[in-house]
Amino acid sequence: MDGIPSVIFFFFFCNILLLTRYGSAYPLCTDSRSPFIPKSPHAFCQYSGRGCCNSTEDVELRKQFKSLNVSGYGCASLLKSTICSRCDPFSAELYRIGSGPRVVPVLCNSTVLANSSQSHLAATDFCSKVWDECHNLSISNSPFTKDKAGSVVNSSSRLTELWESKGAFCDEFGGASGDGSGKIWLATVPAEGSGETLGIDVSNPFLDLTDEVYYDTELGMMGIAFHPNFQQNGRFFASFNCDKVKWPECSGRCSCNSHMGCDPSKLPSENGAQPCQYHSIIAEFSANGTSSQPSQATSVQPLEVRRIFTMGLPFAAHHGGQILFGPEDGYLYFMMGDGGSIGDPYNFSQNKKSLLGKIMRLDIDNIPRELQIEFSVSGSTSSTGGQTITDRGLWGNYSVPGDNPFSEDEGLEPEIWALGLRNPWRCTFDADRPSYFLCADVGQDEYEEVDLITKGW
Ligand SMILES: *[C@@H]1O[C@H](CO)[C@@H](O)[C@H](O)[C@H]1NC(C)=O
Ligand SMILES: *[C@@H]1O[C@H](CO)[C@@H](O)[C@H](O)[C@H]1NC(C)=O
Ligand SMILES: *[C@@H]1O[C@H](CO)[C@@H](O)[C@H](O)[C@H]1NC(C)=O
Ligand SMILES: *[C@@H]1O[C@H](CO)[C@@H](O)[C@H](O)[C@H]1NC(C)=O
Ligand SMILES: *[C@@H]1O[C@H](CO)[C@@H](O)[C@H](O)[C@H]1NC(C)=O
Ligand SMILES: *[C@@H]1O[C@H](CO)[C@@H](O)[C@H](O)[C@H]1NC(C)=O
Ligand SMILES: *[C@@H]1O[C@H](CO)[C@@H](O)[C@H](O)[C@H]1NC(C)=O
Ligand SMILES: *[C@@H]1O[C@H](CO)[C@@H](O)[C@H](O)[C@H]1NC(C)=O
Ligand SMILES: *[C@@H]1O[C@H](CO)[C@@H](O)[C@H](O)[C@H]1NC(C)=O
Repeated sequence: MDGIPSVIFFFFFCNILLLTRYGSAYPLCTDSRSPFIPKSPHAFCQYSGRGCCNSTEDVELRKQFKSLNVSGYGCASLLKSTICSRCDPFSAELYRIGSGPRVVPVLCNSTVLANSSQSHLAATDFCSKVWDECHNLSISNSPFTKDKAGSVVNSSSRLTELWESKGAFCDEFGGASGDGSGKIWLATVPAEGSGETLGIDVSNPFLDLTDEVYYDTELGMMGIAFHPNFQQNGRFFASFNCDKVKWPECSGRCSCNSHMGCDPSKLPSENGAQPCQYHSIIAEFSANGTSSQPSQATSVQPLEVRRIFTMGLPFAAHHGGQILFGPEDGYLYFMMGDGGSIGDPYNFSQNKKSLLGKIMRLDIDNIPRELQIEFSVSGSTSSTGGQTITDRGLWGNYSVPGDNPFSEDEGLEPEIWALGLRNPWRCTFDADRPSYFLCADVGQDEYEEVDLITKGW
């Protein structure tokens, strides 16, 4: 599918959250259960397929609805829909946006699927609708109070008695992200034959790396990360795979080498590709210069400002690729799988000298000066007096935080933050407790893992 950009940017509102939800997240109920199929259909909150309510909860929700004693049909059906969103397969996202749990779910239309036939409904501003239909009507035991703890108002009250305007009401209950930034950033791959799940405007990408990125089953655009000071410095980073046969700048050391007890010439070719034909790359880009402030840029030059990392891959699979900035330390974390094949045949993941099967932690704010000089002589590494990247044993243009685990275990390559992973696919820092660094690591035969990542492990 030519012409589908690799990184796409657009503004989002409530409706887009709904679409991305189906495109990128898995459902979760408020109590962290997975949605399930009820034994029999519910009498009140009728959901087809998986949901978050059992029959007892359905009866409770019906009671809650009755206790509202709303007269108007239009308002009543909206409030029913609001109450029944407890049973929505994504109820966790509706009730836990931002920090604490909510008494009233975010007032988007929670039940519209990303199906194109229905997606026009997602454009409905549900909060506005609730206000328009309900503001005049008495609601008993109203949950729409100003008290976020959700103390109910016993006597009947109208929304107009509790809130001065629709705007004030929807500031509290409506919307989606609550962060006010209005933007979401997506890295995407061509949806080859898969049917679209995201409503994306492909005509105006933020950054188009179609020519650089090599796509295949496990190869492609892997991640994007914005510098913690992006608003000021415009720096952002893309992690992707490339094919050195198709793009000359895709060329780096092979992760299978004699140092690792691995001879690339002995590795099989996969789908006609030679070992280390494919690479994992982190490239730096800049949003400077296209608007007065980086955060206002709607498209940028696809010009690599600097290459951060380049490594040749032994096989075509298991090379993670996500990049994340640590919320507390500001370092760039880079997830890397064991390089592929079954059972990690070269034992890369446990090898302290290999970067395969690891999480790396890199400092991209302090790039050694001699490496910077090296940039300006474009590829000629011998004409500088300083050490080259290769002399330093690095895999790119970064420095190593002094407190990486190698400071306690000399056997470890300095980039390594944690080892022994198979394919750490998506990781996240807990927003409330940044020391909780969780990674989903893809299993081989029977188990998938969620790992708590700590320094050295
Ligand atoms: C329904 O779910 C609630 C909350 O998880 C639980 O306490 C209750 O026992 C369940 N009822 C039935 C009939 O499964
Ligand atoms: C329900 O509302 C109606 C008015 O719409 C009122 O007459 C009735 O007393 C209310 N019932 C309860 C139980 O509050
Ligand atoms: C979404 O909400 C609207 C009311 O705003 C309703 O008419 C529509 O049926 C809802 N869609 C679904 C799928 O429930
Ligand atoms: C979504 O769309 C597909 C194909 O258009 C259809 O088979 C499926 O039933 C739809 N799902 C829902 C819940 O409407
Ligand atoms: C709200 O109430 C006023 C009178 O109190 C009435 O004129 C108006 O039509 C009502 N609006 C709605 C949406 O019911
Ligand atoms: C509301 O009324 C119930 C009984 O009808 C009572 O138990 C409860 O304390 C009251 N709540 C408030 C906030 O007044
Ligand atoms: C981007 O511009 C800002 C000033 O607006 C400057 O401080 C920063 O160094 C620039 N960043 C890059 C990567 O050129
Ligand atoms: C893999 O490497 C680790 C660490 O060097 C070693 O303990 C282990 O025995 C090796 N496993 C295999 C199967 O070679
Ligand atoms: C270091 O940066 C230069 C300039 O961007 C680039 O040519 C080189 O490939 C980078 N080295 C690695 C190993 O990524």
